[in-house]
This record gives sequence, C-alpha cells and structure tokens, in this order.
Amino acid sequence: AFIVTDNCIRCKYTDCVEVCPVDCFYEGPNFLVINPDECIDCALCEPECPANAIFSEDELPEDQEVFVELNRDLSLIWPNIAEKKDALPDAAQWDGVEDKLEHLER
Ligand code: SF4
Ligand code: F3S
Repeated sequence: AFIVTDNCIRCKYTDCVEVCPVDCFYEGPNFLVINPDECIDCALCEPECPANAIFSEDELPEDQEVFVELNRDLSLIWPNIAEKKDALPDAAQWDGVEDKLEHLER
C-alpha cells in the first residue's frame, strides 16, 4: 500500500484524493490517510502531493514507519474524502517542517 506520512500534517493539500481510482483516502482534522486494504498500489497519488508526503510502503523512509499503523488505524475511523478542497490555511508555512506528529489531531 501507499502511506501518507508526516509532511501532510497541518498542510492537507488534498490533491491526492482526486486521482485515486478506488477512493481510499480518509480525512481527519489536519491529516489524511490511506486505507491499506483498499489501496491497489497504482501510484497515481504519489506525484500529486505538493508536500511529497506519500510513499510506497516499500520505499518508506525509516523514520516514517510509525505511519504504517496510523494510516491503517485512522482510515477505519475517519470519513472518506474523494474530492479536493482548499488546503489548510497555514499549509505553506508548515510544508517542510520536520516531525509534525505532535500536531496530529484525531
Ligand atoms: Fe489510491 Fe493508487 Fe494512491 Fe493507492 S496508490 S491511495 S489506489 S491513488
Ligand atoms: Fe496530504 Fe499531500 Fe494529500 S499534503 S492531503 S498527502 S496531497
């Protein structure tokens, strides 16, 4: 599966959701996740993210491994999102800030 990682937090550009052929993105207050059982590994979403926050699980940076479980768990409780919306207001300021996990809202 593909995994949404740290740099999505507080940005949530949502370009990714529009291209997903199986609509497997789920939305929280300031982060999105992918349901790993629904993802068909098509890789379409990865280049769409302006924050470069989406990785194939095979190419996941070592320090992002916590996001495997977070994508799975949160995708089971958050609502589906399939249409692009405005990014969070401070997205440009938070894009590239490291270790935003402490800011994750559930
Ligand atoms: Fe959707 Fe394809 Fe991205 Fe998986 S890899 S989340 S199926 S766009
Ligand atoms: Fe997040 Fe990138 Fe999608 S910032 S909402 S993974 S386009």
